Amino acid sequence: MSRKLPVIYVITPTKRRHTQKPDLTRLSNTLRHVPSLHWIVVEDATSRSPLVARVLARSGLPYTHMNIPRPDFCKTGCVARGTEQRNLGLKWLRKNRGPQDSGVVYFADDDNTYDLQLFEEMRYTKRVSVWPVGLIGGRWYERPKVQDGKVVGWYTRFGKRKFSTDMAGFAVSLNLILANPEAKFILKGAKRGRQETDFLNQLTTVEDLEPKANHCTQVLVWHTRTQFAPLNNHVKEKNITMEL
Ligand code: UGA
Ligand code: MN
Repeated sequence: MSRKLPVIYVITPTKRRHTQKPDLTRLSNTLRHVPSLHWIVVEDATSRSPLVARVLARSGLPYTHMNIPRPDFCKTGCVARGTEQRNLGLKWLRKNRGPQDSGVVYFADDDNTYDLQLFEEMRYTKRVSVWPVGLIGGRWYERPKVQDGKVVGWYTRFGKRKFSTDMAGFAVSLNLILANPEAKFILKGAKRGRQETDFLNQLTTVEDLEPKANHCTQVLVWHTRTQFAPLNNHVKEKNITMEL
C-alpha cells in the first residue's frame, strides 16, 4: 500500500520590482522538481498582476494566487516585509485544509536559493523543524546549535531572541498551524528581526524543535539577494509589444 506524501505548502510573499519575474521564475524552476507541493503566492499589491499569474500558470505547479497590500500605517515605513502576505497564506490554509490533511508549511521568499534536499528534510516535520541558513548576517551561515539531537542555542549574529532563525530556516507542520488558529506574524509595532521569533513563540518551545540537515551542519538554503536592476537606459521601442 502506498501512503500519500505529506504536502509541502510553500508561502511566498512577493513585491513588484524589476527583478520580480526572474526571481519568481527561478523559484518556480526549483519548486517544480519537488513532488507533492502546493505554492501559495501572495502579492504585496492592491490586485493580482498578470505577470505573476503567468509565472504561476507556466510553472505547472498546483498553486493559489492572492494579494493583499500593506496596511496604510506601513506607507510611512514598517520594518517587517511580507508579513500580511504570509498571514493571508495562513488564513487560506485554515479555511481550506483540515485535520485530515497532512503537510508542512514553509515561508519561502522569492529571492533565496533552495537546495531540493531541503524540501525532503522538512516534509515529515511533526511540529517545527529547523536548519541552518547560508550567507546571512554577514556570515557564511547562521544555525541552531544541536546537542544530543536537541536544539540548545543558536550560532547567530543577533542574539537575545528565543528562536534566532531567519524565515528561511524553519517549517511548521500543517496540523500545528491548524491547532493554533490565532498564531500569526505581527506587523504593528514589530521590531526589526523579531518576526520569526514572535511567530514561533506562539507555536512551540525550543526543546521541541526538530533539527534537520544532519543535526544542522548542512547549508541547504541561502539568503541570497537580487541586485537592483536599473532601467535608466531603457528606450521604448515603437510598434512592438514585449512580454517582459
Ligand atoms: C529578510 C528575511 O529573510 C525575510 O524573510 C523578512 O521578511 C525580511 O528580512 C524583513 O525585513 O521582514 P530580506 O532579503 O531583507 O529578508 O527581504 P526581502 O527579500 O526584500 O523580502 C522578503 C519577502 O517579502 C520577499 O519574498 C519579497 O518579495 C517580499 N516583500 C518585500 C513584500 O512582500 N513586500 C515588501 O514591501 C518587500
Ligand atoms: Mn530576500
